[in-house]
Amino acid sequence: MSVRKIIRMGHPTLRRVARELLPEEIGSDEMHRLVADMIDTLHDAGGIGLAAPQVNESIRLAVIEIPGGQTRYGEIPAMPLTVFINPEIEITNPEGAGYWEGCLSVPGLRGFVTRPQHIRVRALNLHAEKMELDLQGFLATVFQHEFDHLDGRLYIDHIENPTNLVFEEEYERYILPEESAAEDAQRRNS
Ligand code: NI
Repeated sequence: MSVRKIIRMGHPTLRRVARELLPEEIGSDEMHRLVADMIDTLHDAGGIGLAAPQVNESIRLAVIEIPGGQTRYGEIPAMPLTVFINPEIEITNPEGAGYWEGCLSVPGLRGFVTRPQHIRVRALNLHAEKMELDLQGFLATVFQHEFDHLDGRLYIDHIENPTNLVFEEEYERYILPEESAAEDAQRRNS
């Protein structure tokens, strides 16, 4: 197992539509090696999701692992480390909400993106077995962000107002305190 290089915005692979994996490829040693490397890479980078195109493999595969608990996004349900192959997203309710997203391929930046908050995900696992998940809120945003990578999209493509793209340090210094204060006020008023 090894940590792979994460390619950054500007690398053409991040803008390609990745190909589906064939059933006979899914259980292969090569695929198991790639997934092991992606897990190492995700842990090394301290992220919550990594799509294969981010390590320059243009195939429809992503790993997601969300520790859960109390975060700056509120209380988040945990998602144990899971491999998603050839995933599809169905929006079950178009109502959207926004989060400040970041991406290992766009280091140092954050952007505010509004996405549907109720989705159904269908995918295969590493044993080529079908999975189906209903996701809401922050998790729905994470999955849409990760699977966008398989279609050559980055979160910055969804930013409606360019002033909502900022550096991480400035986000923590100027935006996060304002958001926390607004949430506190809301809690006091409710
Ligand atoms: Ni990303």
